[in-house]
Amino acid sequence: MANGKTEGNLEIANPGKVTFLEGRGELPMMEVSTAWSTAEIYLQGAHVTHFRKKNEPPLLFLSQCSRFAAGQPIRGGIPVVFPWFGPREGMNQHGFARLKEWELKEFAPAPDGSVSLRFRLPETPEGAAFPSCTVEYVVTINDALQLELAVTNNSKTEEFVFENCLHTYFEVGDVRDVSIKGLKGITYLDKVENFARKSETDDAIRISSEVDRIYLNTADATEILDPRLARKIRVEKHASLSTVVWNPWIAKAQQMPDFGNEEFERMICVESGNVSSNQIRLPPGESSRLKVKLSSSAM
Ligand code: BG6
Repeated sequence: MANGKTEGNLEIANPGKVTFLEGRGELPMMEVSTAWSTAEIYLQGAHVTHFRKKNEPPLLFLSQCSRFAAGQPIRGGIPVVFPWFGPREGMNQHGFARLKEWELKEFAPAPDGSVSLRFRLPETPEGAAFPSCTVEYVVTINDALQLELAVTNNSKTEEFVFENCLHTYFEVGDVRDVSIKGLKGITYLDKVENFARKSETDDAIRISSEVDRIYLNTADATEILDPRLARKIRVEKHASLSTVVWNPWIAKAQQMPDFGNEEFERMICVESGNVSSNQIRLPPGESSRLKVKLSSSAM
C-alpha cells in the first residue's frame, strides 16, 4: 500500500505499521512500528513523545509527571516550538504550536520500510496576529528519526518574522557523565547569567549545574556521548543556525510541577532551530525548511 488513510485503525503491510489510539489523558496519538524502531506521536503539538530503536534504551526522555491534557504542553519528547521561542508578554512560552491539535494529512510507508507522517498546523486565533502561512511537519521513522518543519509565507506583501525550534529531550544514563561535542568556539547566550554573551571553550561540554544556553550561528552537528548507556547520539541539522542546550538541574526541577525532582539526571535537551538573533525573516511567498536527523549508535 503506497499511502494510508487518516481515519480508523489501519495496518500497513510489513514492516511499517501505524496504529491510531487514545493516548494518555484521552489525547489522540499514533503508535508507529518499523523493522528498526517504535515511535509514539500525539496530535497535540504533533508531538513525538517516544522513539526507540530495537535493542537500545529509548532515545527520548519523557517525564513521568508530564501533563497530558488539551492545551497543556507535554514535558519531554520533541515539543515543536513556533512561532516564538521563550517567553512573550501575555502569551504562552515557546509559542502556540505545541499546544494545538495538528491535523494528520497523510502517512506513507516507503518501500524501504520507513514510515512518514505529515501534519499540518490548523488555523488558530493566535495565528491571526501573523501573516497567513502554512506550517507542516513531517516525521520519518526508520533506524533514525527525521523531522522536517516547513513554514510557507502565504502573504503577497508581508515578511514573516518568526523563531522555530525542535526542543528535543534526550534520555541519558546520568547527565553528569554526558559530554556534548560540536560546539567549541561557538558564541552563546547564557540564560542562567542574564543572557551574558560567551564563547564555548570546551571540546566536550559537561553538565554539573543548571545549563540554559543559546548557541548562535552554528549549523554544525552535535554529538551526545553517554558512557552509562554506552550510546552516542548524533544530532544533524539543516536550515538551523541555533542550538539550545538545557538542563534545569535541582532547584528548577523542584519548581516545575510537570517534572520529577530527580528527573534532571536522566535528560538533556539539545534543541535545533532558529532563535534570538537567528530568527527567520521569510519573504512573501517563500518557504523555510528546518530539518533534523537524530541517530544513535553503540559506543
Ligand atoms: C528551553 C529554554 O528551551 O526550554 C529554557 O531555554 C526553558 O529557558 C525550557 O526553561 C523549558 O521550557 P518550558 O516552557 O517547556 O518549561
